[in-house]
Amino acid sequence: MKVWIVHDSTFGNGKSLAEAMAEVFRQQIEVGIGHIKKITPRDVANDKPNLIIVGTPVRAFSTSFASKMWIRGLKRQLREVNHIIPLGMVFLTHAMPKKMVEIWGKRFHKILDRGIAIAEVYPGWLSGRVKDTQGPLEEGTTENFVHTAKQLLENMVK
Ligand SMILES: Cc1cc2nc3c(=O)[nH]c(=O)nc-3n(C[C@H](O)[C@H](O)[C@H](O)COP(=O)(O)O)c2cc1C
Repeated sequence: MKVWIVHDSTFGNGKSLAEAMAEVFRQQIEVGIGHIKKITPRDVANDKPNLIIVGTPVRAFSTSFASKMWIRGLKRQLREVNHIIPLGMVFLTHAMPKKMVEIWGKRFHKILDRGIAIAEVYPGWLSGRVKDTQGPLEEGTTENFVHTAKQLLENMVK
């Protein structure tokens, strides 16, 4: 079994959340992790993972264009290798209160969920709020991501 976690982190907050989750999965399954500028959709599709997690920052009142393009590319590559990823999940890092970014969280979820390439997407989105543009993350954020990763892993290996 394999999970891929990709992110579009600039200041390292999304990267550290991705790493915290990767550590959980690594205890029982194979993990691929990286920045979307370094990991191509083809790399991930060829691996035929069981779970895909995509993280994006909210910048200028939107999720990153690059992460949306990356998801589009992933779906195209999945069609080519004839693979459906059973489960997906999204997370957002943001400075504004969670309530104010809810709309972009929902939209980003929908972007991953649309079509048949990813069979099911974990409900909602994980919030990684930063106290300031460059961080740090709000207290309890990493713990929350670790908790969710543990839940996902439990469901995958049972
Ligand atoms: C140019 C710029 C625009 C931003 N616009 C927003 C915004 O509209 N809403 C928001 O919640 N955060 C905004 N932020 C804060 C980013 O969400 C934050 O820097 C990022 O999530 C941190 O994650 P990272 O360390 O992984 O890059 C902005 C940051 C930058 C640099």
